[in-house]
Amino acid sequence: MAERDYVLGTHDEEIERLGVQHRVWRPTVLAAWTRAGIGPGSRVVDVGAGTGYATLDLAERVGATGEVIAVERSQRFLRHAEEACRARGFGHVRFQELDLMTGAIDARDLDAAWCRWVAAFVPEPARIVAMLARALAPGGRAVFHEYGDYRGWRFAPRRPVFESFVERVIEAWRSSGGEPDVGAELPALLVRGGFRVREVAPRVFASRPGDALWEWPARFIESGLRRLIELGHADEAWAERVRAEYRAAEADPATVQITPLVLEIIAERA
Ligand SMILES: C[S@@+](CC[C@H](N)C(=O)[O-])C[C@H]1O[C@@H](n2cnc3c(N)ncnc32)[C@H](O)[C@@H]1O
Repeated sequence: MAERDYVLGTHDEEIERLGVQHRVWRPTVLAAWTRAGIGPGSRVVDVGAGTGYATLDLAERVGATGEVIAVERSQRFLRHAEEACRARGFGHVRFQELDLMTGAIDARDLDAAWCRWVAAFVPEPARIVAMLARALAPGGRAVFHEYGDYRGWRFAPRRPVFESFVERVIEAWRSSGGEPDVGAELPALLVRGGFRVREVAPRVFASRPGDALWEWPARFIESGLRRLIELGHADEAWAERVRAEYRAAEADPATVQITPLVLEIIAERA
């Protein structure tokens, strides 16, 4: 059930896409961790760690005197993360299979929490906030990267079929019980949940065909289309129109692709 629940799926293509995504975002992520004070010796939870790409970077950053607890619901993703950590010889990473809507993090007095593109997939993000309030020490930092305006993903010049694709993704997301723009709700949830919000900053990229950055949103098109078809939100003929328009945008050197707004939020446990 849990494997099916995650609206984007847990197949190999999604594992690869998460890797591309992490590589593009890595410099931004590392800078956020620095500002949140995550460093050697820190004890950090990676919330909804997925396949563990950020877990590996956290493990490297906190070093053997620190600790990383990777919590994740998908067994398949968790196994992938465990194998990657074993291959790197990281003995200071623990893994916990956890449904964030029902369980609790098996750790207390942590220095920090990292949560990226996870709150957007759960029906009650306030539960994640409450869970982090329990797991963090007073003064501990929670760092989030979540979308604040998914509709902001678009092309200039505009591409209407592509924009209808974005709309359908949002629709499928919401009908699976998540909220893509949860980042905009998080500051209020954090304040109500016992946090002080220290920073909220927009993170958006504009890329042109051929840029390394183009790769990240481009990777989502095929897996997103397949998932929409699987979930009954689209058919093959419409998917082909989206692909054709995307190819046309990619072939036009005047195109700019604007990525959906991500909000970077750093909050401190009061
Ligand atoms: C888009 S992925 C992001 C993974 C990782 N944070 C990253 O940035 O690469 C979303 C993750 O949230 C996990 N997830 C969704 N709902 C969950 C829940 N209720 N409990 C635990 N994990 C959940 C999914 O299994 C998936 O690994």
